[in-house]
Amino acid sequence: MSDLKITGLHKYYGSFHAVKGIDLEVPSGEFTVLVGPSGCGKSTLLRTIAGLEETSEGTVEIGNKDVTWARPRDRDIAMVFQNYALYPYMNVFENIAFGLRARKFADAEINKRVHNAADMLGIGPLLKRLPRELSGGQRQRVAIGRAIVRDARLFLFDEPLSNLDAQLRDDMRVEIKRLHQELGRTMIYVTHDQIEAMTLADRIVLLRDGRIEQLGSPLDLFERPANLFVASFLGSPKMNFVPATLDGNTAILSDGTKLTLAGKRNGKAKQAVILGIRPQHIALSGKRVAIGHAQVKVTVELVQPTGSRVQVAFPLGGKSVVAELESRDVSKPGGKISIDIDMARAIVIDPQTEKVI
Ligand SMILES: Nc1ncnc2c1ncn2[C@@H]1O[C@H](COP(=O)(O)OP(=O)(O)OP(=O)(O)O)[C@@H](O)[C@H]1O
Ligand SMILES: [Mg+2]
Repeated sequence: MSDLKITGLHKYYGSFHAVKGIDLEVPSGEFTVLVGPSGCGKSTLLRTIAGLEETSEGTVEIGNKDVTWARPRDRDIAMVFQNYALYPYMNVFENIAFGLRARKFADAEINKRVHNAADMLGIGPLLKRLPRELSGGQRQRVAIGRAIVRDARLFLFDEPLSNLDAQLRDDMRVEIKRLHQELGRTMIYVTHDQIEAMTLADRIVLLRDGRIEQLGSPLDLFERPANLFVASFLGSPKMNFVPATLDGNTAILSDGTKLTLAGKRNGKAKQAVILGIRPQHIALSGKRVAIGHAQVKVTVELVQPTGSRVQVAFPLGGKSVVAELESRDVSKPGGKISIDIDMARAIVIDPQTEKVI
C-alpha cells in the first residue's frame, strides 16, 4: 500500500512555475528524502503535500484518499518545519502536548503520549523546562516530539536540522533514523544536504528546477546516476569529470592517456564524451592490476588529509582529478604515484545531452 501518491502535480506562484509535473508514490513505512539545490521546489512540494500551498494542477492522495482540496488538519499528517517555533511561555510538556490538547485528547492519553515521545527522544528529564532553558538540539527534539505524539500516517520534515551545528546535526540524524525504525511510519524529509540524503533515505528523490531528475535508493543514484547533474550532486568529494574521446572501448584523454572501459561499447566511432570517475574508485596501485582497472602514473599536486582518508589531487587529461586514498598512501605533494582506476564503475556521459550513455 502506498501512503502518498502524487500525480501530475504542478505549482505556479503567479506566472512562476515552481513545480513542473511531479509523479511520486511512497510506499507505507518508507523514508523518502527530497533533495536538490536551493530553489528547486522541495519546500513547495512538501507544503503542497501538507495542504499549506494550493495545488495548481494534479492530485495528492494520502492513504488512498484524494486530499488535493482537503485542509491540512484533515490530511493525517504531522510536520516539522525548518523554523520550528516553540511556545516560549509553555514548558516542554505543554509544547509537545499542544496539538493533542487542541484536538481534545483526554489528559491521561496526553500524559502517556508525551512521556512516550519524550523518552524516545531522550528529553524525559526536561519536561518542566521552558524553551529558553534548552540547547538548540533539545529544542529541536521538542519540535519533533510535538510531531510524533500526533501519530499521523505521514510525517513531513522540512530541513529540521539546518539550524544546528555540525556535531548536533550528526547526532540528530542518528536520532531521526532510529525514530523511523521505531515508529515504522512513512516519512518524507527535505534537505539540500546530500550526506543527510544518502544516510537517511530508503529512497532519494533528486529534484532540479521543479522536476525529478532521478529517483532510487541512495546506492542506485550513487553507482548508476542517470545524468551529469545527478552524478555531480551526490558524493563527497565530488565525482571527477574528464573530457575524452571514445574510440570503441578506449577513452583517450587530452594528454594522450588511454583508459580501457569495462564492458563492450558499440557507439559511434570517435565520439567526444565526458568520463566520470569517483574519487573513491581510485586507489594506489598494488602489485597487480585488477581486472577492469586502469593503471596510470600521475604527479601529486595537492594533499588534503581528512583523518581516516587522504584526498589527493593530480593533473590528468587536462583536469585536476581528486582521489580518496588511504591515509598512509600519500603524505607529500610533488611525488609520482601509480594509481588504479576502477573502470567498471566509471561512467560515460554524452556532453550534448548530459545523459549517461
Ligand atoms: N510564495 C512564493 N511566491 C513566489 N515564489 C515562490 C514562493 N515560494 C517559493 N517560491 C519560488 O519557488 C521556487 C521553489 O521554492 P522552494 O521554497 O520550494 O525551494 P527549496 O527547494 O525549498 O529551496 P531551499 O533549499 O532554499 O529551501 C523558488 O524559486 C522560490 O523563489
Ligand atoms: Mg526549502
